[in-house]
Amino acid sequence: MAEKVKSSKEAIELEEKYGAHNYHPLPVVLAKGEGVFLWDVEGKKYYDFLSAYSAVNQGHCHPRIVDAMKKQAETLTLTSRAFHSDQLGIAEKYLCELFNYDKVLMMNSGAEANETAIKLARKWGYTKKGIPENEAVIIACKHNFHGRTTTIISASTDPVATKGFGPYMPGFQVVEYDNVEVLEEALSNPNVCGLWIEPIQGEAGVYVPSDGYLKKAQELCTKHNVILMMDEIQTGIARTGKMLASDHEGVHPDMLILGKAISGGAMPVSAVLTNDDIMLTIKPGEHGSTYGGNPLACAVMVEALEVVKDEKLAENAERLGNLFRDRINQFIAESEIVNLVRGKGLLNAIVVNDSEESSTAWDICVALKENGLLAKPTHGNIIRFAPPLVITEEQINACIDIIVDTIKEYETKQWNKPVALS
Ligand SMILES: Cc1ncc(COP(=O)(O)O)c(C=O)c1O
Repeated sequence: MAEKVKSSKEAIELEEKYGAHNYHPLPVVLAKGEGVFLWDVEGKKYYDFLSAYSAVNQGHCHPRIVDAMKKQAETLTLTSRAFHSDQLGIAEKYLCELFNYDKVLMMNSGAEANETAIKLARKWGYTKKGIPENEAVIIACKHNFHGRTTTIISASTDPVATKGFGPYMPGFQVVEYDNVEVLEEALSNPNVCGLWIEPIQGEAGVYVPSDGYLKKAQELCTKHNVILMMDEIQTGIARTGKMLASDHEGVHPDMLILGKAISGGAMPVSAVLTNDDIMLTIKPGEHGSTYGGNPLACAVMVEALEVVKDEKLAENAERLGNLFRDRINQFIAESEIVNLVRGKGLLNAIVVNDSEESSTAWDICVALKENGLLAKPTHGNIIRFAPPLVITEEQINACIDIIVDTIKEYETKQWNKPVALS
């Protein structure tokens, strides 16, 4: 059995000493999860309002997902794709039927799924659209977040993601998000093979584009023979109140990129879905991953998606998301520091009236933690709120009370802060 830490302090010290410093976590050490709740090493209970960046939509340690995992783990976990497995075809059929595509390619992390999407779009561009070799362009959007690989960050506009990691991969053009004119102009370049886009920009701070933008983007892609590559890794699997965020506008992307919650937080599983015309451009040996589509991932994923359907999590996210924004808007009317709440379903963010570089959002998250609710800033002035979708009305009301009371306490402290003498 693995060793146990004796205190949160010890655990943080171990991470600090032996782990890379590539994250800046809130000072809380979690040891147990169940549904919407998390417990720290000392046994303090919290509401989870991050859901592992929307990977745990089904709630922590969902008994059905854990059971499926245990059963498959005792039977067969990994064969590699050198051989067939009795789980892969079933999982592939399940995904294709659920999302209405011809074929799927399974990977592990979200970044890998995006890498897969990029390779597919380029291969299609050369073999089907007739783009001259090495000249394919993929259009990405300003403030995008698609992962952390060197290719993916080449399309990023965030200096934290890019600085010091060049040289960058060519073949990306970045356009303003939610701007149809600039998109139309970019898509008219005949070397463009794909438009790579999030239906709501999650990491950027839950930016919801104008109504009709995605639909228009789809029409323009069809007009210019460009693949619409929709990254639903954070927005998918009922998070925004529909199975996919694209469903809000009746958009069926040419390529659907999924990750995170397709396995309910149990293990990394990701997938790219598309039609035969695009998927079959990739031939044996040209792409893959040792763990991609492994039997354990397949069994866990099917159960995790069944849970989303059976427990009507999209409907719950839609209803409680409306309640959340209504109540936060009532609070905003009287709040000194909260400007705005935005989002869809249970993917929401509040914006505080401070600069992006300020520590206000971080300070509020630390105070929320003290009051039993875990959330994380996306920027200095934005806090994302994304609880597991199994949350009940009573629980979400209790959480809104915590959020409102904590921010009020914070506002009072700010007013009473001693003014520095010059
Ligand atoms: C929209 C989007 N795409 C891709 C990723 C990357 O996924 P992963 O961290 O599993 O590589 C994320 C992660 O936050 C994401 O939000």
